[in-house]
Amino acid sequence: MKTVSSVPAKRSRVELHNPTGNGVSATHISEPPTETRRVTTRTVRDMKMRGEKIAMITAYDYTFARLFDQAGADVLLVGDSLSNVIQGNETTIPVTIDEMIYHARLVVRGAQEHAMVICDMPFMSFQVSVEEGFRNAGRIMKETGAGGVKIEGGERVADHVRRMSEAGIPVMGHLGLTPQSIHQFGSYRTRGITKEEASKLKSDAKALEQAGVFALVLEKIPSTLAKQITDSLTVSTIGIGAGPHCDGQVLVMHDMLGLTEEFHPRFVRRYASLAETVREAVRHYDSDIKKGKFPSEKESY
Ligand code: KIV
Repeated sequence: MKTVSSVPAKRSRVELHNPTGNGVSATHISEPPTETRRVTTRTVRDMKMRGEKIAMITAYDYTFARLFDQAGADVLLVGDSLSNVIQGNETTIPVTIDEMIYHARLVVRGAQEHAMVICDMPFMSFQVSVEEGFRNAGRIMKETGAGGVKIEGGERVADHVRRMSEAGIPVMGHLGLTPQSIHQFGSYRTRGITKEEASKLKSDAKALEQAGVFALVLEKIPSTLAKQITDSLTVSTIGIGAGPHCDGQVLVMHDMLGLTEEFHPRFVRRYASLAETVREAVRHYDSDIKKGKFPSEKESY
């Protein structure tokens, strides 16, 4: 059962972010508490305990973030996949911290009622040192208003996660297929197939939990391994190509809405075919203009 209503009451941001979860802010009360509440790290943890699945979707701008928030998505991820689907790059390597911050700001503006916004830490925003990662995570929090950051990697980023968590920055981990390491692995194949890889993923997951992540993305690993990891953790797992046993699921919005047509991995379910809808609408518009059918008298002043 979701706690979001279809027509959410307007409430102050201070109250919506109230981490006590009792709907009351010490500094600003605009309305009596209702069922509608902003998702927080605590909500995500509680959802796991209640066996309630978490719905995460990527978002990169105000308009889509607003629609996804209104539809009840729990978490909006400003993924570094924006390098691919927004910027048209081959990999996630080129996107910069400034570009991530710009898009995260737009998404936060759109997520007006319910969803928690998480912003990816892009390649080279944390690899140089724990301090640099910490400073960049701080920039994301201060300059965007996001509810937390996501960082790729296992034990090697545990100190980063610890430093951020201790400073009050919620951190989501990301294990399995980690696209920022594409040049190290050389392919987007399923991870955790061999005994050694599976055992390393399990120990990485534990290390991240101990370091303080509140949730963990598991990308493209066998469903049985994802189940073992999910059962072994108190923090929530969010799968993409990791089967049905994770505590939640995430998809890239362009894939699930059918905006990307040439990408067909098994784990993507298309809930719409927007690419054809958009082409058809623009064909119609183009034809109306050329035939002098648009604008009509009624559409003119
Ligand atoms: O960047 C992204 O969109 C992601 C998701 C695929 C989890 O990291």
